[in-house]
Amino acid sequence: MTKKILVIGSSGQIGTELVEGLRERFGNDNVVASDIKEPQSAQSGPFAMVDAMDRRGIERVIDKHGINEVYLLAALLSATAEKDPAFAWKLNMESLFIILELAREGKLKKVYWPSSIAVFGPTTPKDGTPQHTVSEPSTVYGISKQAGEQWCAYYHRRYGVDVRSIRYPGLIGWKSAPGGGTTDYAVHIFHEAIKNGAYTSFLGPETTLPMMYMPDAIRATIDLMEAPTEKVKERTGYNLAGFSFNPQQIAAEVARHIPGFKMSYAPDQRQAIADSWPRSIDDSAARADWGWKPDFDLRAMVNEMMKNLKR
Ligand code: SER
Repeated sequence: MTKKILVIGSSGQIGTELVEGLRERFGNDNVVASDIKEPQSAQSGPFAMVDAMDRRGIERVIDKHGINEVYLLAALLSATAEKDPAFAWKLNMESLFIILELAREGKLKKVYWPSSIAVFGPTTPKDGTPQHTVSEPSTVYGISKQAGEQWCAYYHRRYGVDVRSIRYPGLIGWKSAPGGGTTDYAVHIFHEAIKNGAYTSFLGPETTLPMMYMPDAIRATIDLMEAPTEKVKERTGYNLAGFSFNPQQIAAEVARHIPGFKMSYAPDQRQAIADSWPRSIDDSAARADWGWKPDFDLRAMVNEMMKNLKR
């Protein structure tokens, strides 16, 4: 059976690059992109306008294109979700239930749903955070991801739904803009450094967070989805680590490319969210189960970001 993929939330930070990665691997026509807004750049394959909370609309797209795999990326991220907790819960949960139910009914073979380091909270061990540990999130985004992970595991256990998930760290890429997260500063800094030679960070200088360069995240996502079923032992979300840094450390790397670059700090409400998250992640389960290994460290990521954004 040909693989026919639907990516819901294809215009977002991850979606933009994931669609590209999936099309490279499986062919343009086998990957349908979908979002509530038109894509900004020219399309290399089919696009459907659909709301992640519209079950009928999604079913129509699935039927029309013979979809058998869904990557559900639509969500409100950590900082945006705090502005409208009720809507964040509704969007993040309703969209997941629609897809899990469609899979339970046999309409989908495989489902991908992203989780986040936001499932962890202030009571979680902060360094080398294990795969299985205390998970008491303090943000509505984290609560939705933690509950969602448990629903994924439940649908797998109870109904045999093949759903897979990764707890992404902060993701950094140059092809798409981040959308309302606490880790967005690590993308903004590049644009501001190139444009103005200066950046004011909304997180304090010593706020260390786990991060990853987008190409690593995309490769991990597709690798996890392509791994043989029996290798996918975690059906909540896999811990995944790239590298950790704080604003001061990334500023020093950026300054290597932009002489005289000036970093200043004005922490806002996102500081409390960052303070509740781990500093570094233990991803040995992903490494052992399906062979995960990152390619990029901080310096390599900054080199690539600078090279591509300066063009
Ligand atoms: N990067 C995300 C955020 O900051 C974490 O999942 O919300």
